[in-house]
Amino acid sequence: MTDTTSYTATTSVAAPDLSGVIDLRSDTVTRPTPSMRRAMAEAVVGDDQYGDDPTVNELEAQAAELMGKEAAVFVPSGTMGNLASLLSRCDRGMEAVVGSECHILWYEMSGASALGGIPLMTVPNDRLGQLDLDRVEQAIRQPGATSPVTGLICVENTHNRCGGTVLSMDYLRQLRELSLRRGVPVHMDGARIFNAAAASHIGSKRGSSTLTSGPVVTFSRRYRPSVFSTLMPRAPSSCARLISSPWNWA
Ligand SMILES: Cc1ncc(COP(=O)(O)O)c(C=O)c1O
Repeated sequence: MTDTTSYTATTSVAAPDLSGVIDLRSDTVTRPTPSMRRAMAEAVVGDDQYGDDPTVNELEAQAAELMGKEAAVFVPSGTMGNLASLLSRCDRGMEAVVGSECHILWYEMSGASALGGIPLMTVPNDRLGQLDLDRVEQAIRQPGATSPVTGLICVENTHNRCGGTVLSMDYLRQLRELSLRRGVPVHMDGARIFNAAAASHIGSKRGSSTLTSGPVVTFSRRYRPSVFSTLMPRAPSSCARLISSPWNWA
């Protein structure tokens, strides 16, 4: 029988007073300011399924404009954005090339495999968070009777487990060239894409112009409204596919 006694709140130990302490565990532990809370509480809302939520519509339009993309779709979290991107690009049994240190591989509950039947083919990340392009090329499957098809190459910018490193424009251009030559789109996990843009002194639009699929951008770093990401798929029709195909969310 389970002993539940240890779970009863019997102690009165006060939580430590952490006011004034800067919590450096992650940039995700920030909290919304009073004015952000007010903006959330007072936001004009509607039924997003009918396209009737003006706040979501505005967010998507702004995100698309910032990234220089045709359209954006609101998703509650970066994890969901990455997963939606994988699901929209890879059918069951198709493979995605990812870095050995990437967030998708380490921290996203194997969602791609569990929900999409998408195995992840890893290529080592170097200390700059890059994937060696020759190795990416080798990781892309040759068409054949017994090989899965490679549906997506994923990069991360800035790179979390590689110490917040930034992918250079030069590297991204070369990756784009490879992507177009081999016909495999590039998805960017841009949980911190604005940090990357600031560090490279380029606009996020220019950076994302190198991508052949959309980036996932999260707004929940530093400005913590708890959930808040957008995904830029190929075109508005892909947004519709993501939302409307229940299979994709099975
Ligand atoms: C690089 C990267 N991608 C994706 C995510 C997932 O974002 P979320 O916590 O909004 O699901 C994180 C979270 O910290 C991250 O660091």
